[in-house]
Amino acid sequence: MTTQHRTIAFIGAGNMTQSIVGGMVASGYPADAIFVSNPSPGKLEKIAAELGVHTSQDNAEVANKADVIVLAVKPQLMADVCAALREQVAHLADKLIVTIAAGIRISKYRQYLGDDIRMIRVMPNTPSLVGKGMSGLVADDRVDDSDKSFITTAFDGVGATLWVSDEDELDILGAVAGSGPAYFFEFMASLQKAAVALGFDRDKARQMVQQTALGAAEMAIHSELELEDLRKQVTSKGGSTAKGIEQYQAYDIDKISADAVKAAVKRNQEMAELF
Ligand SMILES: NC(=O)c1ccc[n+]([C@@H]2O[C@H](COP(=O)([O-])OP(=O)(O)OC[C@H]3O[C@@H](n4cnc5c(N)ncnc54)[C@H](OP(=O)(O)O)[C@@H]3O)[C@@H](O)[C@H]2O)c1
Repeated sequence: MTTQHRTIAFIGAGNMTQSIVGGMVASGYPADAIFVSNPSPGKLEKIAAELGVHTSQDNAEVANKADVIVLAVKPQLMADVCAALREQVAHLADKLIVTIAAGIRISKYRQYLGDDIRMIRVMPNTPSLVGKGMSGLVADDRVDDSDKSFITTAFDGVGATLWVSDEDELDILGAVAGSGPAYFFEFMASLQKAAVALGFDRDKARQMVQQTALGAAEMAIHSELELEDLRKQVTSKGGSTAKGIEQYQAYDIDKISADAVKAAVKRNQEMAELF
């Protein structure tokens, strides 16, 4: 079997699995090599009908057929799901284990699944659901380049991927990119409220805020300038934007972001202790 066409089993057919599998099939990965399991049949019927993948209500059945197992259940279910897989799946050590659950460390999966597993942790974010995700990835030292390249391609299907060197860095990535959509929504909502407070209709305020956010993100992606220089480029000295920016700087926006990210990293570390 080639690296491109390994059999892959997703445990849990929730929103993230639907998006990742959708991205893989859209990029030409054969649906025939993809298996999905879930306890309730509704989501399985949907994913089978829309994408033509194999489905089962039995996690062990799909895991036994796969070279790669993606654990895509909620973190609080992970211990039980892994315990059942350990009991019912043959040769787990020969399979690549991938998890997308937040918080749980690789050392914990070794306790759940055995010391000899090889594994990749992926931290996707919510925009993956619309194909614009930012996924952070970290591998243990048993994972080889072909494993990494296979998983990079799978997650590139729902956005961009960034490998980090250890799980502490993944906590930081989670605090920036995982939590980041909420920070941007908070900021966008505050701009919307500011426009409404000055008499604008909510829908029109929303339209101008979201389109401006999209345009700014596209400009940042397509520019080689530093983000701070892009900001300066659209801020004429003495102009109205300069007056607005002065207000953000008066509240020390850098400190607000630094404190937000530090608080989220700390919480990620605390949550890792829960499992
Ligand atoms: N959504 C995001 O933006 C995001 C971002 C980063 C990380 N994640 C992580 O990704 C994982 C999946 O998230 P999600 O948003 O896709 O959640 P979700 O939509 O709630 O999907 C979880 C799925 O797991 C199924 N499930 C429950 N018990 C199971 C079992 N024993 N065996 C197999 N499947 C089982 C659920 O089935 P039923 O509904 O039928 O019970 C559900 O379809 C979570 O660990 C989450 O932390 C998600």
